[in-house]
Amino acid sequence: MLETLTRVPPDPILGVSAAFQKDDSPEKVDLGVGVYKDESGKTPIPRAVKRAEQEVLAAQQSKSYLSPIGNPGFNAQVAALTFGSDLVGRKGDLSLAQAPGGSGALRLGAELLIAARPGSSIHVSDPTWANHVPLLGNAGLRLEKYPYYDAAHNTLAFDRMIEYFDALPAGAIVLLHACCHNPTGQDLDASQWSAVAEVLARRRLIPFMDMAYHGLGEDLDRDATSIRLIAKAVPELLVAVSCSKNFGLYRERTGMLAVLSAGSEPASIVSGQLGRLARTLWSMPPDHGAAIVDRVLSQPELRQDWMTELRHMANRINSLRTLLADRLTEASQRDFSWIKTQRGMFSRLPLTADQVVTAREALHIYMAPDGRINIAGVSPANVEHVATGLAAVMRG
Ligand SMILES: Cc1ncc(COP(=O)(O)O)c(C=O)c1O
Repeated sequence: MLETLTRVPPDPILGVSAAFQKDDSPEKVDLGVGVYKDESGKTPIPRAVKRAEQEVLAAQQSKSYLSPIGNPGFNAQVAALTFGSDLVGRKGDLSLAQAPGGSGALRLGAELLIAARPGSSIHVSDPTWANHVPLLGNAGLRLEKYPYYDAAHNTLAFDRMIEYFDALPAGAIVLLHACCHNPTGQDLDASQWSAVAEVLARRRLIPFMDMAYHGLGEDLDRDATSIRLIAKAVPELLVAVSCSKNFGLYRERTGMLAVLSAGSEPASIVSGQLGRLARTLWSMPPDHGAAIVDRVLSQPELRQDWMTELRHMANRINSLRTLLADRLTEASQRDFSWIKTQRGMFSRLPLTADQVVTAREALHIYMAPDGRINIAGVSPANVEHVATGLAAVMRG
């Protein structure tokens, strides 16, 4: 029977990492993989996470099951971090379920939407994170694209996006990147988020927000502006939260789905549905990462230390943005200042697929096939090679 299966083509991004590992050039630079890297090129475990992990292991008496919706302390802490400590005044409307990473939360949300309205479509930004397509689509949602990025000018296609939302029928589902848009790094400012919240409310659309980089754009409060504005404006909202990047917990698969319903009665039904759906997907989410996050956020000293380190990570990325933008502008005599105003780990360079291959083969600079680069892979030591090399590739 298994001989009927066809071979899966290599994953375009994981393939870039594999090729990078094999390259033995001393000049090689990895701008492909989507993980944070520090000054030494390593993906660190934050100090507070390491300490909390030791404390969790020392205190843990049992590894018995928790429940399909996971660790309640973790869920409450992450909800407060995301929505603000007063949960935007809607505590009773909120249903929470821990999930295996942001990916698990996205899938759980998609399953909930399909259970509520089979055959639904979801409108995603053009472009969006490549894995949104299978994560949401394989749950049964049909994907459609809304205008988001103006690649010719490296700006947000804001007016076209609002026009598109304004023409959607009531009840249409819209996926929004809460901050640090992947792959473009192009975010909305607070007044643009207010305008989005207004159109979502007026057109009675259902926002599904993906928060995968909380704290890595500006800071924890400013990065959550989008969610907090929208949660105040609309009756129903889904938020998929990932703790992979901001807590450095990637492989521990730590995330949460939060659902705001129009009142406490529907919220209690949604909570039951989330438990039922989790049971059919992974039965119970893994606890280790969640127990660590709960500890970091509930112990003031650990929380403060984590926030300081996260702030350092965001500041470091933003100063690398300035470094790269200035050097690329100088080397190419073209304007790359837009890299400075984008946020999060990614920007997308205006390179063709062939130019991406040339950068890899001739210069040992690795990036995603669409020209997406991980800014955290740039360093003062490699920026000269990256900027002059890529400027030459762009000149052709
Ligand atoms: C936009 C976006 N959403 C969600 C995720 C999910 O992350 P994870 O499942 O590793 O927590 C990622 C990870 O790269 C992402 O970039």
